[in-house]
Amino acid sequence: MSTYRVASIPGDGIGVDVQREACKVLDTAAQRFGFGLEWTEFDWSCERYAETGAMMPADGIATLRSFDAVLLGAIGFPGVPDHVSLWGLLIPVRRAFEQYVNLRPVRLLPGTTSALAGRGADELEMVIVRENSEGEYSEVGGRHNAGRPGEFVLQESVFTRVGVERVVRYAFELARTRQRRVCSATKSNGIIHTMPFWDEIFAEVAAEYPDVEAEQMHIDALAARMVQRPDLLDVVVGSNLFGDILSDLAAAVTGGLGMAPSGNLNPEGEFPSMFEAVHGSAPDIAGQGIANPVAQILAAAMMLDQLGEKAAGEAVRGAVQSVLAASEVLTPDLGGGATTAELGSAVAEAL
Ligand code: NAI
Ligand code: MG
Repeated sequence: MSTYRVASIPGDGIGVDVQREACKVLDTAAQRFGFGLEWTEFDWSCERYAETGAMMPADGIATLRSFDAVLLGAIGFPGVPDHVSLWGLLIPVRRAFEQYVNLRPVRLLPGTTSALAGRGADELEMVIVRENSEGEYSEVGGRHNAGRPGEFVLQESVFTRVGVERVVRYAFELARTRQRRVCSATKSNGIIHTMPFWDEIFAEVAAEYPDVEAEQMHIDALAARMVQRPDLLDVVVGSNLFGDILSDLAAAVTGGLGMAPSGNLNPEGEFPSMFEAVHGSAPDIAGQGIANPVAQILAAAMMLDQLGEKAAGEAVRGAVQSVLAASEVLTPDLGGGATTAELGSAVAEAL
């Protein structure tokens, strides 16, 4: 029997609630499919930051290194600035473990109403490949003349040939397992150095995949297409910032943020990959027990795929779909009256 060692970081706010349900469902999957899951929980969070001045211990990365995967709830809480929580935990993990792909599958699940009502599940099924290690999320820059009339800030983007090429290549490889279409998000009309460079490398890699249809669109037009003609999209690849924005938009045109999973992947498997919902810690509903756990459960299913338990991952997705299709146990964001725990338990039972 294979046993996987998984680091669990519930984090803040609803991260804690949805993580509990995801673990419940995965333990059920492990039992049913005959593998072991050994969870180790870490209290790394904004609460820990408030007590100790650090989101995680100094040797946090080294600690996580020995795990097969990381399942993360959500990080962020009012009182701790967002850049502190992001740069104190999430971004260091993504970078230290070369999780250069952020994979965000988007599909219209049964029982959910799209902002694009009337579209069928086959017309709304895409995946967003977000560059996850460089780009616009950079520490290069600074604030000058602070507090004086001439005060100004500079924020530089960092795009490397290696970084762009590997994520674009991942998108083309992924497209070969799907509808063989890749759309690249660009803005080379307005952003004159980094985006033409991105486009150039996209064209180079595209030439190696003549069997995959490649196109590029400016991010604004692509945002509009995602709402008006999502059926034209299959794999969408974008920089760190563009991929981040597009994936929230994509979540919004399907069932909302409570439904959207993501994986921070180190495709080579040299380091642990990390799985999390697209949403944050939702302080506005934290502590009420009504967060939708589906996104986190689907993120946990992606983790099973990556661990090599594809049948179990598929079964978890199937259980989510059957619970949603029955429309009996739904959280308030889906128009129901169920709690986080009730929806999580329903999925575990269906499994
Ligand atoms: P958010 O995703 O936490 O919430 C946005 C809206 O969606 C809120 O109205 C919330 O109630 C709703 N929502 C989110 N997840 C839901 C769920 N599972 N079920 C039902 N409703 C849900 O984004 P926001 O408000 O911008 O950020 C809140 C905090 O989370 C901030 O501190 C931010 O930095 C952090 N954050 C952390 C992320 C991470 O850990 N990867 C990602 C995004 C934000
Ligand atoms: Mg986001």
